[in-house]
Formats: sequence, C-alpha cells, structure tokens
Amino acid sequence: MSDVRLLGTVGDARAFCEEARARGAVVGLVPTMGALHEGHLSLLRRSVAETDVTVVSIFVNPLQFGAGEDLEAYPRGFEDDVRLCAAEGAEAVFAPGAAEMYPAPPVTNLDFGELSAPLEGVHRPGHLPGVGVVVAKLFAIVGACRAYFGEKDWQQLAVVRRLAADLSLPVEVVGCPTVREPDGLALSSRNAYLDPAERAAAVVLQRSLRAGAALIEAGERRTGAVEAAMAEVLASAPLLGPVDYACVVDAATLAPREPLAGELRLLVAAHLGGARLIDNLGATVPT
Ligand code: PAF
Repeated sequence: MSDVRLLGTVGDARAFCEEARARGAVVGLVPTMGALHEGHLSLLRRSVAETDVTVVSIFVNPLQFGAGEDLEAYPRGFEDDVRLCAAEGAEAVFAPGAAEMYPAPPVTNLDFGELSAPLEGVHRPGHLPGVGVVVAKLFAIVGACRAYFGEKDWQQLAVVRRLAADLSLPVEVVGCPTVREPDGLALSSRNAYLDPAERAAAVVLQRSLRAGAALIEAGERRTGAVEAAMAEVLASAPLLGPVDYACVVDAATLAPREPLAGELRLLVAAHLGGARLIDNLGATVPT
C-alpha cells in the first residue's frame, strides 16, 4: 500500500496539484462524497491508470441536499475511504471541512438551463445547481486535470461536461460505466439504506430499464409506449414507493425525442424504503 497525502485546505490542495503539474505530471481528479464502493474505485483505478497523480476529493456537499433529504444520515467512513484510496494508488485525498470549502454561504448560483430543468431538476430542484458549485470549486482548486465521473449519475455527468465546456475550464471530463451488483443493481452509497427485502426488490429499476431498451431494440419508436412499459415493470414491484420518473430522452440534451432516434438514454428514479434510487441505460436507434 502506498502512502497517501491528506490535504485538508484549499491552499494545500492547490499547491499539491500545481507542484505535480510543474514536474510534468498529469493530474487525475476523482470527486466523491466518501463512503467509497466499487463504483468509486472503478473511477479511481481508471484515473491511476490514465494519469500520473490521482487526487480523490471526499466532501459531503451540503449545497446539493434539499431540505428533508439525507445530508445528516449520508453514509460516512473516512478512515476506510483513505485506506482504500491508498491501496488503489491515489497520491492524495482532499477532504476539506465545510467551513474550509464554504467560508461564507455561496451566493453564486449555477443554472444549467434545459439540461438541469427536467428529471432531477423537477424532483430535487437545488441538487444539480449545488453539484455545479462544488464541482466548479473543485475544478478551480485542482486546476488542469482529467476528472472522472460515473455514468450512474447521467444528468450530473451531462451538467459537469457543460460546466467545463461553457466556462473553458482546463478539465477533461471522463465518464465511466456504472458498476453493478451481480443481479444488476447499480452500486450506490444509498443502497446501504435498504433492508434485505428492499435490496431484493431494488433490482426492478434495472429490469424496467432493460424492458424499455428491449422494446426500442424490437423497433418501438413511440416514447410513450416505451415509458409505459418501464412504468409497468416498476408497478409490479410490491415494495417500491413513488416513482419520480421512468423515461427515455436524448442522451446528450436530455430532451424528449418523438419518434425515438439517435443516441438515447432511459432513466429511472424511485423511492424504496428510506432510499431514493436512480439508474439509467443507453439505447441507440440508427438514424
Ligand atoms: O457524485 C457525487 O458523488 C457528487 O455529486 C459529487 C460529484 C462528488 C459532487 O459532490
């Protein structure tokens, strides 16, 4: 296991990354909220393989949690996280406290327009703007780098790509495939909230996505028909709570497409016990 530098301040993190680049190193950034699982580790491994110096940030960002959401309960396990980062070959962990990251409550508000309005934007209105602010800060602190994000948060990935492009930030955003349990459930820190019966039922999200994708594959081009099939699968799961959305949209713009054509993304979000789970899957209709 290699040594990992613990960076607690913005100044230390900035200096560490500047010093690495001055030596000619390419910096890799893996932004996380901790409670690391195999999904995070897949990002970390990719960064270690593709860059010279990997920095993992661990910060549970209060700005991206709405009132009544799970900010306090969000799983935390800092010592295990640092051990995992070291074992996987990260050079540094940047873990600022909330007062270091936000010495004053930010008044800057990032609006991603049509990219953040649907889906999560409807059900968690402040979430993506809150992600935008913390990711913009991380990019400003770390500087030129490759930054690794999971495709599981598809809309977040779309927003972060546009953030880097629109503001000409010197960051290459790299999207990485979702890591799944053997039964198909996407790994998520929030899976820890599920009891055994809920955990067994959670696979219905993936089944719903596959049902929608199979219909498209079979030639269905009506958005409504695909979404109805997805909803029907979700409705068959006895324990599932409210479904926030089950839809198919353009993969890049997240706008509806009628008839379905090109690169598409099927996305679901649903409540199960104390957890809100999200997942997505790609589909292509040749144009
Ligand atoms: O995906 C996450 O874990 C978070 O939204 C991120 C990107 C680390 C920002 O807090």
